[in-house]
Amino acid sequence: MASTSLQPIQGMSDISPPDVYLWQMIEERAREVFARYRFQEIRTPLLEKTELFTHSLGDTTDVVTKEMYSLQDRGGRNLSLRPEGTASAVRYIAAGAEETANARVFYMGPMFRCERPQAGRKRQFHQIGIEAVGAPNPRADAEVIALQLHLLSAWGLEGAKIRLNTIGLPEDRAAVVDGLREAIRPRLSELPEDAQQRFETNVLRLLDSKDEAVQKVIADVPPVIEFMSADSRAYLDTVVETLRSLEIDVEIDPSLVRGLDYYVHTVWEVVHGGLGAQNAISGGGRYRIQIGSKTIDGVGFAMGVERMIAALGSNGITAEQFAPKPAVFIVSLGEAALKENMLLAQMLRYRGISCEMDLGDRKVKAQMKRADKAGAAQVIIRGDTELEKGIFVLKNMADGTQREVELPELMELL
Ligand code: HAM
Repeated sequence: MASTSLQPIQGMSDISPPDVYLWQMIEERAREVFARYRFQEIRTPLLEKTELFTHSLGDTTDVVTKEMYSLQDRGGRNLSLRPEGTASAVRYIAAGAEETANARVFYMGPMFRCERPQAGRKRQFHQIGIEAVGAPNPRADAEVIALQLHLLSAWGLEGAKIRLNTIGLPEDRAAVVDGLREAIRPRLSELPEDAQQRFETNVLRLLDSKDEAVQKVIADVPPVIEFMSADSRAYLDTVVETLRSLEIDVEIDPSLVRGLDYYVHTVWEVVHGGLGAQNAISGGGRYRIQIGSKTIDGVGFAMGVERMIAALGSNGITAEQFAPKPAVFIVSLGEAALKENMLLAQMLRYRGISCEMDLGDRKVKAQMKRADKAGAAQVIIRGDTELEKGIFVLKNMADGTQREVELPELMELL
């Protein structure tokens, strides 16, 4: 068989030691932070009805039209691997009784988007996200942004920036579209053909275009907020004021539009200079999703774990620092000691001490080499002489000193 069959499919990766220890650190600290803000974990299925996503993310968005892994099951049902976590969380919350009306949930896990793989863009990637349900309240948006920053500091990330904007309410949309068109129309001929088409079909998407000619025109267009109602402007002002009072600085970026249709009011992205073109480590915002007979208002965000890890790496934080080492390595000289040492290892492990030992009858030198490689802090050495005397040789790997101890002292030292 060709050797490529040993690889996972394109755009998806195995996560293994030592990298996995960085993943564990990220997940553990996230759980600690979420607990302080009283968010509870939910684990929703990876596979959902396709209509859940088309309906809540928007049936003309890139994610829905181009990127979903969709399939028909044996019963002919149309299903999709989840491309993000908000839709499933909202489905869960909408199905619940009253106690979920102000639900605060978090989730961690794989998401799937069939995008063209490149640096920072995978087909299976992982998100850590939260959703706080409740009627629109700018203070709730600010609290969620503050939580997001708390997470970044718990992970030790420095140099991240928040770009914030508002996309207003659906009622603002017509005025925004008209206002943008009016501002751009006199210079329409400067735009490339596809951008001229976008001008007609989805003028908002011109704002985050990477095309230079488009950017030049957009630079002179008034920020979208100028076309919005006084209420929507006041909403953004309160978010920014609340953040300031929490000593959080944000950059208002009028060109920020998000790729999903469910957003209203506040939207934001966290970007990091250590990443390339795909520089968003997180995206979030306030949303309104109609599901079944219910309308769910909420605010949340999702961090991309792979991008987070790349950003941490650019800060010098790597997996090796979190790889656990055995507290002790046990070296055996001869059959009898090997047998006794297995019992010793079992006792130590039951008492919460991590230990490693060689189960073959390898030379002492080889066993010591393995102990060193594993990074054990201490080594216990036992052979026939030690068994007879009822003692243990304990070697401190940091300074190379060794001493003979009896069991009670050994337990104390470990
Ligand atoms: P999103 O901006 O589509 O938002 O994704 C959030 C984050 O997931 C991105 O900032 C990025 O770090 C990561 N991400 C997205 N696509 C990929 C990919 N192909 N490869 C690697 N990382 C990726 C959402 O998904 C919304 N559900 C966030 C949200 C929650 N809004 C409100 N609540």
